[in-house]
Amino acid sequence: MTYKIKIVKTRSKNTSQVVVLFQNEEKIIEDFGDYHFSDIEKEYIANNVEKEIFLFYLQNLQKKVYIQVISKKSDEEHKNKEEYRIAASQLFKLIKKEKEEKIEIQVLGKNNKVISYLEGLLLSAYSFDKYKTKKKELNLKAINLISKTISNATVEEIMNIVDSVNIARDLINEPGSVLTAEELSKRIVEVGKEAGFTTDVLNKSKIESLKMGGLLAVNYGSIDPPTFNILEWKPKNAINKKPIVFVGKGVVFDTGGISLKPPSNMDEMKSDMSGAAAVVGTLNAISKNKIPVHVIGLIPATDNRPGQNAYYPGDIIKMFDGTTVEVLNTDAEGRMILADALAYAKKYKPELVINLATLTGSAVMAIGEFGTVAFMKTEEKVKNELQKAGDDTYERLVEFPLWEEYAELIKSDIADVKNIGGREAGAITAAKFLERFTDYDFVHLDIAGTAYNSKGSNYNAKGGTGIGVRLLSEFIKNRIEE
Ligand code: BES
Ligand code: ZN
Ligand code: ZN
Repeated sequence: MTYKIKIVKTRSKNTSQVVVLFQNEEKIIEDFGDYHFSDIEKEYIANNVEKEIFLFYLQNLQKKVYIQVISKKSDEEHKNKEEYRIAASQLFKLIKKEKEEKIEIQVLGKNNKVISYLEGLLLSAYSFDKYKTKKKELNLKAINLISKTISNATVEEIMNIVDSVNIARDLINEPGSVLTAEELSKRIVEVGKEAGFTTDVLNKSKIESLKMGGLLAVNYGSIDPPTFNILEWKPKNAINKKPIVFVGKGVVFDTGGISLKPPSNMDEMKSDMSGAAAVVGTLNAISKNKIPVHVIGLIPATDNRPGQNAYYPGDIIKMFDGTTVEVLNTDAEGRMILADALAYAKKYKPELVINLATLTGSAVMAIGEFGTVAFMKTEEKVKNELQKAGDDTYERLVEFPLWEEYAELIKSDIADVKNIGGREAGAITAAKFLERFTDYDFVHLDIAGTAYNSKGSNYNAKGGTGIGVRLLSEFIKNRIEE
């Protein structure tokens, strides 16, 4: 993604490609604005629209005129936004195929739709080609957005958000043996320097002196040391006295440990740090866009392997806050490292803590890839804000219960708690485990189903999606607009 976007007021003549965009509820032909199509062209467009051809272009001598009709399939605003993002991803595929170097886009529709359209286009332009020896350069070098209402600042803001999503995607897509815990820390520091947030990396001996037993136990099997990362954005004009803390699961590769995973699709377990990636991306977006909200990110990081002195099923681990945990499955490692981070978060007296983790296969089984399983122990107002941000960004949340009965399922006979429940309600028992280590308003997002796209779809390439970044950036941004 190396092109520039510029806002212009009028179209340039015959030099660049033009994209026209309509929503089919509008009177299409009459509303062509100042595009002077010939009668034959208009007739052609009208015929094709009726045939519901979605996207096509008219070839002139010096340029192509792309015409895209976006069908309004729903009356819900947030769904329309998604229709625009998806439409943009289809346009992107076509202009890439046509090797366009410069395009002008005019969206004849409402302002917020233009934003979604641009967002969808930018999100589509991502590819992870770092390891391709022959890289396919994108021909597209410039986009002119014809708009009287969108400001350069708005475009800048969207570009920062998409860049942040791409930072998360890059981290997720990086192979596990490259992105060790220490390498992850190095990259967080680099991102922070560029964006303006601070990073404090605690190394293994510091983690030992803090007695973070959960993080250390998961790391026993590894030759690569763990890290504990503290990211902070604290602007002088922050509107909140107590910080909002994001916690992200940073398991850089999850083999399952001694409770080894089966081989099929194990490669995808390089994405077990998607929660961490979402926290890094979100801090990048918030600080790049200079949002006046004090936020902190906590990322416990390690791999989970069966080597060295790997922890065993049956082990009893003393956690950072003194709780003892009976380990019955070493593959339930996420909650072990997150428990220490959640207990650590108490010291900030946070307004709210939001945890993101590829935590359970059970969450995937329950609702698949179309939504994130959410647990919310907070006031109704905050829940609604999160749900709304989820709908608007289409990173949708489905609330699951934190009923006390589920805590019974993780009671241990020989320790304070055990690290797995039974076969039933696995996402919930995992959440109940985490909840034990909190004493503040707490939201836990199980992103196991949404973090990694095995096939690729619409504006998400195959691989890490960067889920959470747009959701949380939107949630935080809305807080200042109240
Ligand atoms: N990282 C996995 C969860 C996961 C599964 C993420 C599929 C993405 C896709 C997690 O550490 C894990 O292995 N969880 C176990 C817990 C079980 C042992 C209680 C699971 O869900 O099977
Ligand atoms: Zn696991
Ligand atoms: Zn895991």
